[in-house]
Amino acid sequence: MNEYHFDFDTIIDRKHSASEKWDRYQGRDIIPMWVADMDFRSPPAVIEALHARVSHGLFGYTHPPEELAEVVSAVLRRDYDWKIESEWLVWLPGLVTGLNVACRAVGDLDDEVLTFTPVYPPFMSAPLLSQRSLIKVPLQLHADRWVWDPGELEQAITPRTRLLLLCNPHNPVGRVWSEAELAQLAELAERHDLMICSDEIHAGLVLDTDKRHIPIAALAPEIARRTITLQAPSKTFNIPGLGCAFAVISDHPLRRAFRKAMGRIVPHVNTLGYTAALAAYGHGEQWRRELVAYLRANRDLLAREVESLPGLSMAHVEATYLAWIDTRNSGIENPARFFEQAGVGLSDGADFDGQGFVRLNFGCSRQLLSGALRRMRIALTAV
Ligand SMILES: Cc1ncc(COP(=O)(O)O)c(C=O)c1O
Repeated sequence: MNEYHFDFDTIIDRKHSASEKWDRYQGRDIIPMWVADMDFRSPPAVIEALHARVSHGLFGYTHPPEELAEVVSAVLRRDYDWKIESEWLVWLPGLVTGLNVACRAVGDLDDEVLTFTPVYPPFMSAPLLSQRSLIKVPLQLHADRWVWDPGELEQAITPRTRLLLLCNPHNPVGRVWSEAELAQLAELAERHDLMICSDEIHAGLVLDTDKRHIPIAALAPEIARRTITLQAPSKTFNIPGLGCAFAVISDHPLRRAFRKAMGRIVPHVNTLGYTAALAAYGHGEQWRRELVAYLRANRDLLAREVESLPGLSMAHVEATYLAWIDTRNSGIENPARFFEQAGVGLSDGADFDGQGFVRLNFGCSRQLLSGALRRMRIALTAV
């Protein structure tokens, strides 16, 4: 008997669907495992809700559906024991927008924004685009876990440091920051009067059964007061092309500053994005659980394989469908190009401030993943 109710195994042809991920290698035999979307269809409930909305045939200016704030609040309470008020929500077309708005909403020109590297590239570009300086604190690998060094972090902070951009769970190193680690950051933020912008786009994708996502704002009301939390259904339910995300900001002046920084520049969320978000949060939980089980098995397969591939290693991926693979012992000069030539399209670690690493997206059918791993093995064995 199939242990899954939902089908994650069937390979769906994404060619000719204007997929950013697949079109990069159009006409070439390269398996795309770079940009962070998955090759699975979205939950049936999402697809049905979109059909119904499209059938209505009217697509005028819109606002969040009435039930959406309530549904989101219920999910945050159920999954993270986090109680929020509806008016704390600010809807956004995406999280990258949210990161950029947060950098503009906090502090003044030339103030400093701190983040941990390697990291999703917009964490490094948003401060500079907002005319802030960027401080990078490198994560270090200790006993199969990426961690920050508390002393180094403390030293990096100056009187001009105003904002901490946190990625939790962290892309690309796959950590789910623990309660103790978050409490350490919260204490630091209070002591140095830092604001926090916490990108939690991967919160629904915790793979380890003994770990859970904790929004840093849920630690205490004092921490929430200095935090802009960004979340979205986009990664979890595979709807990033529908552009619907939100910020949770409990502090009224901070929320006002955030809205002011959005100005009339940030566009509205589109009708179908809201429809999909409502269906995903309202009716997607069973699908999400099965997705996480499928991704966990993909991760385990990948970890076993990488362990036996010459010159490669990776730390345990606690969350996300992204693996951060260290190639520095392989002797390969440009690993992204090397694997591309071997027929596997990975993200170049250099873009994340991680020279010598590649990021592999395992949000795909097991068959495709196995095929990519076979190609990688053949190429590495020939080195
Ligand atoms: C940590 C993180 N934040 C934001 C994004 C993108 O968010 P959006 O498409 O909503 O701008 C990604 C996509 O990979 C991500 O990994």
